[in-house]
Amino acid sequence: MSNAVRIAPSILSADFARLGEEVRAIDAAGCDWIHVDVMDGHFVPNITIGPAVVKALRPHSDKPFDVHLMIAPVDQYIQDFADAGADIISFHPEAGPHPHRTVQLIKSFGKMAGIVLNPHTPAKMLDYLIDDIDLVLVMSVNPGFGGQSFISSQLRKIEAIRKMIEKTGRDIRLEVDGGITTDTAPLAISAGADTLVAGTATFKGGESHYAANIRALRGE
Ligand code: DX5
Ligand code: ZN
Repeated sequence: MSNAVRIAPSILSADFARLGEEVRAIDAAGCDWIHVDVMDGHFVPNITIGPAVVKALRPHSDKPFDVHLMIAPVDQYIQDFADAGADIISFHPEAGPHPHRTVQLIKSFGKMAGIVLNPHTPAKMLDYLIDDIDLVLVMSVNPGFGGQSFISSQLRKIEAIRKMIEKTGRDIRLEVDGGITTDTAPLAISAGADTLVAGTATFKGGESHYAANIRALRGE
């Protein structure tokens, strides 16, 4: 795994009327992944986009689509997102009674599987899942909305999960999502994160700023 921090802009902060262009713009600006926030108005108090939009956006970038599902139930939609072109599919263990089955389902479609931990969810939740997953996503805000403030208690959790990942000896990505700015990015990275989701901080200032915003988040 390269040491460079990956930046995954959340298209939640993009101009929804011009989503294809926005995806092309962040791709050209040097992002690593495209983070897609899927919300159902039930698991989280907001509604965003579904598989049809993922499918429509797919031709606009060759970069990995990092699909963050904030929906319950989750299993019945996994194939739709896999078919739509998701590369990484992450879900919250609270979204269904059988998270391990959901991991197996995601992998059955040849996709990378991620577990998302809400701010209150302990790292221990990963004990019997970590050997089977490709990514851990630590929420540093409560899921549902962009533009919230980073919850610092999550830094300890990131440190703990980094140790768990090292013990496995496997290449598991450790991603952080919510309130990432040029102030909080270095904290998350020092705690052990290797991938940062950033909505507000990527899209601020409009298209001409995207490349500089992404570089700044990487600490360049
Ligand atoms: C929140 C989403 C995040 C959010 C991040 O539920 O999962 O991806 O869009 O937004 P910022 O970077 O603005 O905190
Ligand atoms: Zn997200």
